[in-house]
Amino acid sequence: VTGGAGYIGSHTARALRNAGYDIVILDSLEFGSKDAVLGAPLVVGDIADFDLVADTCRKYSVTSCVHFAAYKSVGESMEKPARYIRNNVAGTSSLAEALTASDVDKIVFSSSCSVYGTPAVVPVTESAPISPESIYADTKAMAEKVLGWFDKTHGMKSVSLRYFNAAGASMDAAIGEDWTVTLNLIPIVMKALLGKRGPLEIFGTDYPTPDGTAVRDYIHVEDLAAAHVKAIEYLHSGGPTTAVNAGTGTGSSVLEVLKATERITGQAVPHTFGPQRAGDPSATFADPANCERVLGWKATHGLDAIIESTYRWHSTSS
Ligand code: UD1
Repeated sequence: VTGGAGYIGSHTARALRNAGYDIVILDSLEFGSKDAVLGAPLVVGDIADFDLVADTCRKYSVTSCVHFAAYKSVGESMEKPARYIRNNVAGTSSLAEALTASDVDKIVFSSSCSVYGTPAVVPVTESAPISPESIYADTKAMAEKVLGWFDKTHGMKSVSLRYFNAAGASMDAAIGEDWTVTLNLIPIVMKALLGKRGPLEIFGTDYPTPDGTAVRDYIHVEDLAAAHVKAIEYLHSGGPTTAVNAGTGTGSSVLEVLKATERITGQAVPHTFGPQRAGDPSATFADPANCERVLGWKATHGLDAIIESTYRWHSTSS
């Protein structure tokens, strides 16, 4: 599991172990946390280090890979394109080269709904045009292509999971998102509520949505972790290379997130209203039907579980 000490990676590593898989985590620990691996074998290093990946595959008898290790800040990607292309695209290519050289021919890839850009139609199906609007998003689209070529040239089968908005923490509050680096809505709501930052600024109240604020598909991180386990099972049963949406199919507005948080925690979320953020689509949410059909997976948690688990995690972690 590359990036298995990070947010979604650590939840997936745990879910894989709970499903009975022996795993090894490869993580540079640039952003990941040693604590998040919960005692799983950890190799500290880079996905682009051919010898390290090949040695790890040999030492741990690796049969398949779940690949999370990547940079994920949209804003930073627009300032440092080479850094993102090197790590997310060239890194994925180096990893695939070392894996195929080690006879590992199955990979689940951490992709993003941002490959669709601003969708013309919601819910978004996998046949929507690939039209990334940031370098970050394009690195995900490019890495999907790289994996497609490794299928054609080396027979490596991949499942690209195009996540919608990952959120929440493990239900037992053992692991969650490192909120020092995140800029996403739900951690910001929690920080504002807990007085760990100033008020939440709601970006835009004049969208063509029921309450005027932007709509997203928030998917619980433990649901996402389960999707990766299903994707591994799919590949081990001989499934061909594919890309599927990983979302709930339900959109929630910024105001709905705020109100649900206030209802669940019994505390007010200090907030202000500001202009739309440049480049933000008004509404995006998944059509999850294909994922359920192909992988036999669908989300089981809704927004309340996301907020409850985030609150528990953020109230107990420093
Ligand atoms: C962002 C990324 C996207 C990535 C996704 C999941 C951008 C432009 N897009 O999506 O590529 O796949 O995270 O990590 O960064 N909001 C506020 N106030 C805030 C923060 C957010 O009102 O302080 C609103 C946003 O305008 C948006 C919603 O909350 O409507 C969710 O925002 P965010 O969590 O940043 O995710 P996305 O922008 O959907």
